[in-house]
Amino acid sequence: MAEIIETSLDRVRALERAVDVLGQGRPIALPTETVYGLAADATRADAIASIYEVKGRPRFNPLISHVSDMEMAESHGVFDPVSRRLAEAFWPGPLTLVVARAPGSAVHALATAGLDTLGLRMPAGFAREVISAFGKPLAAPSANTSGRISPTTAAHVADDLGSAIDLILDAGPAGIGLESTIVKVENGQLRLLRPGGLEAADIETVAGQRLLRQDSAGATLEAPGMLASHYAPGAAVRLDATDVRPGEALIRFGGMALPGEAAAVIVLDLSPSGNLREAAANLFSYMKQADATGARTIAFSAIPSQGLGEAIRDRLERAAAPR
Ligand code: TXA
Ligand code: MG
Repeated sequence: MAEIIETSLDRVRALERAVDVLGQGRPIALPTETVYGLAADATRADAIASIYEVKGRPRFNPLISHVSDMEMAESHGVFDPVSRRLAEAFWPGPLTLVVARAPGSAVHALATAGLDTLGLRMPAGFAREVISAFGKPLAAPSANTSGRISPTTAAHVADDLGSAIDLILDAGPAGIGLESTIVKVENGQLRLLRPGGLEAADIETVAGQRLLRQDSAGATLEAPGMLASHYAPGAAVRLDATDVRPGEALIRFGGMALPGEAAAVIVLDLSPSGNLREAAANLFSYMKQADATGARTIAFSAIPSQGLGEAIRDRLERAAAPR
């Protein structure tokens, strides 16, 4: 069973143990502001292979390399002016930039699935301290079995992967609760590869241009991780519900009761006051809670599509996709 260290109680030991396990080429569970990551040395084939193994993840799906500072970022990626401006504005934070691989980059081809581009992110919080102490980029997908709901607490990670890894760093619930927004500059055009914890509108303001959304067919090719069925609970998922059917779990938004609620197995509200930031932070943990009731279907009431609602709806649509 994994050792769990609370970073607020024993920061020094958490860093020491993390650097020790990572140095042995083994993965650790790492708290970031978006979700908990399963992190390993991005420059070592054996370390990356163990990430894929622990997650049961298809190897054609590239990993994000996490860095602690701009100097590290620039030794692995080549920044065009727009990507640089975005990094300066939003790092550390919930933004992943797909850039060209720097010629001398030591990030292993297994982490990039052989692409000549690299997904780079500078996470906030304890994750950044770990990377800085380790001194090398960490490849880190979300710390869950492939296709399942991403973890936003150390307990989620322990339930899912606790017997497969050595160390879980516990820094409390992830503040944002949704994975990073992924963008890529291509021929001077800024493309949104995955909506996430940074609102598209904020990116557009800094970049001074519109984000190009891609059609779903392109999405499968470009960000191979964007498989249609993802973030899947055990239960079926019904979206934009306007009522609740007997035996369903209900996850609603904005404090609005739905007809039939009395017969629901459980009723959870992502944000009674209708705050999308709060809804994002609660989403994955409420999905797990609803799933744990054993309900056959989780019904979701409508979520607005503006702001962070875009990423929330994206995750829900994937959770509802045929498996
Ligand atoms: O917030 C996050 O991004 C979390 C935390 C741990 O940092 N990580 C995360 O990783 O969500 P993961 O592996 O679940 O998602 C990474 C996504 C995948 O969809 C993958 O296809 C895409 O990033 N990706 C990585 N490198 C890429 C590249 N070079 N080109 C296009 N897409 C890339
Ligand atoms: Mg994931």
